[in-house]
Amino acid sequence: MEKKSRLKIARRVLLFWTLFIGLGALAGGYGMIADPSGKAMGMDAMLPYFQVLPFAEVLFRDLFFSGIALIVVNGITNLTAAALLLAKKKSGIILGGIFGVTLMLWICIQFYMFPLNFMSTIYFVFGLSQAIAGYAAWVFERQERFVFDPSDYKNVGTNDKRLVVYFSRMGYVKKLAYETADQTGARLYEIVAKERTQSTAGFWWCGRFAMNRWAMPIEPIDIDLSAYEHVTVCTPVWVFALSSPVRAFCQQARGKIKETDYICVHYARGRYENVAREMDSLLGVLHTDYLSVRCRTGYYKAERGEKS
Ligand SMILES: Cc1cc2nc3c(=O)[nH]c(=O)nc-3n(C[C@H](O)[C@H](O)[C@H](O)COP(=O)(O)O)c2cc1C
Repeated sequence: MEKKSRLKIARRVLLFWTLFIGLGALAGGYGMIADPSGKAMGMDAMLPYFQVLPFAEVLFRDLFFSGIALIVVNGITNLTAAALLLAKKKSGIILGGIFGVTLMLWICIQFYMFPLNFMSTIYFVFGLSQAIAGYAAWVFERQERFVFDPSDYKNVGTNDKRLVVYFSRMGYVKKLAYETADQTGARLYEIVAKERTQSTAGFWWCGRFAMNRWAMPIEPIDIDLSAYEHVTVCTPVWVFALSSPVRAFCQQARGKIKETDYICVHYARGRYENVAREMDSLLGVLHTDYLSVRCRTGYYKAERGEKS
């Protein structure tokens, strides 16, 4: 079955907003230019409110300038973003999100001019929804662009004295585990969770285990850990601590590992030395090295931690 693309969903939502706002602005702007008095569109009663704006006597005696501004600021911009989104260009995602913010700023001017009203408020919410869709599409685009091919790591498994153990949801820890094993020739062992960890629902399910500091049930460890001279354990950070599947692994591996070092991957800043301390106490060994790696949708920044 083909994997559901969160990028495609977010891009479609963003396309909807850019078309909806863009076409609406074009139609509204055209109406204002066609009849600058505002009578035809029932907007003439709003004209006095425009007088609080700078240069009102020149620009806002009628709705002509406002119509042009509406077409330029919210119409052409959003339709350009829509065309770029249809052409699957990344710039469409960025511009679509930015134009959501532009709409919110536009509405802020209306909040300043008019008394609180339903139309301005709802369009502010539309702008916010568009900006959120743009941000989500930008994040998902980076996530889905992240690919790595295990067959690129030819040296993995050539040294039977070393082992790299890892758990990974999205592949970020997995890639580092492969790189590490490739450097030393270590064998690889993947910790497989018995619970749901994939997709958005999986994220929240993992969060439940992590918040409670529970160990997550894993498939039985079917290798002899005591046969290796050195084992590197790679884990993501979950809710500021050791991830739940690696917690289960460490509990089950207690007393079986002779020498170890850790690689800890996280999204936010910080070194998460607590992760290393928890692994030491669960495994019953003191680590020889600790690498804390910040990873933002596939871009790594490493920082070496203190040895114990
Ligand atoms: C349930 C959950 C909780 C997380 N909590 C944190 C956190 O507290 N701090 C942080 O920097 N990253 C946190 N993250 C992000 C992961 O540590 C980060 O994205 C890591 O690269 C994931 O690697 P993986 O995709 O290979 O499993 C969390 C991720 C999940 C799924």
